Amino acid sequence: MHEVPYDDRDGVIWFNGELVPWREAKLHVLNHALHYASCVFEGMRAYNGKIFESTAHNQRLHASGEALGFKVPYSVEELDRVCQETFETTGASEAYIRPVAWRGPEQMGVSAQACAINVAIAAWQWPAYFTPEARMKGIKLDWAIYRRPDPMTAPVHAKAAGLYMICTLSKHAAEANGCSDALMLDWRGQLAETTGANIFLVIDGKIHTPTPDCFLDGITRRSVIRLAQQRGYEVIERAIMPEELGDASEMFVTGTAAEVTPISDIAGDYTFEVGTITKTLMTDYDDLVNGRPVAVAAE
Ligand SMILES: Cc1ncc(COP(=O)(O)O)c(C=O)c1O
Repeated sequence: MHEVPYDDRDGVIWFNGELVPWREAKLHVLNHALHYASCVFEGMRAYNGKIFESTAHNQRLHASGEALGFKVPYSVEELDRVCQETFETTGASEAYIRPVAWRGPEQMGVSAQACAINVAIAAWQWPAYFTPEARMKGIKLDWAIYRRPDPMTAPVHAKAAGLYMICTLSKHAAEANGCSDALMLDWRGQLAETTGANIFLVIDGKIHTPTPDCFLDGITRRSVIRLAQQRGYEVIERAIMPEELGDASEMFVTGTAAEVTPISDIAGDYTFEVGTITKTLMTDYDDLVNGRPVAVAAE
């Protein structure tokens, strides 16, 4: 896929407190974050002129910074305001917004006590993560080549750059096999998530999703759980083993970038229909993010 390089676009980026021309939002090569992954970030989407769940995302940015031992030097309220302002500079009614916080160039080496914390926010047009055709038919997943790590081995609840190393490698391997993404197990062999979205299964009309005890508890995931419950569906969070995929009639993923996207196939081992529950939640999520009234179950 050809994209305009991200350092060569028009517009402005909010960089440590001010809006700077897009092409001038540059870093020195000796920033600590580049060498040691001391970086956390968020991904939000704005619909109809308003960022969906901005505060939840900025709270998570703070929590991710704390998990990496640093304080994001702007309050959640300030971040909410400047995220909205940065989004509005695009002049568009919809956009993807990416706040990022990282350790700078003041110290090099594993220790980073002297490094200042930098923050930037960029907003751009980013179409749905998966193509519209794929979203109608469902996407194909491969088994990931890496597993989500044990919470004893990494700050697994942070949205931290370093945790994406295994995601990029797994996604590349999946793409080489003609798949859109990879399904990751956790270190125990339980189902976890994909490389950038949470997973849900429909088994006998009930919705099952892995307990997020070693991976990101997505903000979309929480919204979709609420939507499903409003519809009267039972949602069960639990440990799920891969063999249970054979019991599922539908499967879908949720994430800010992926929104609600059906899964059609896992490495040829399991296939799913794009069924009623998935379609209902795709529509309900679309209504929710666009500020339209969301359907609820009849009493
Ligand atoms: C690894 C991973 N899991 C899950 C998610 C879904 O999170 P959210 O719904 O908050 O975007 C994301 C996206 O941020 C992600 O990168």
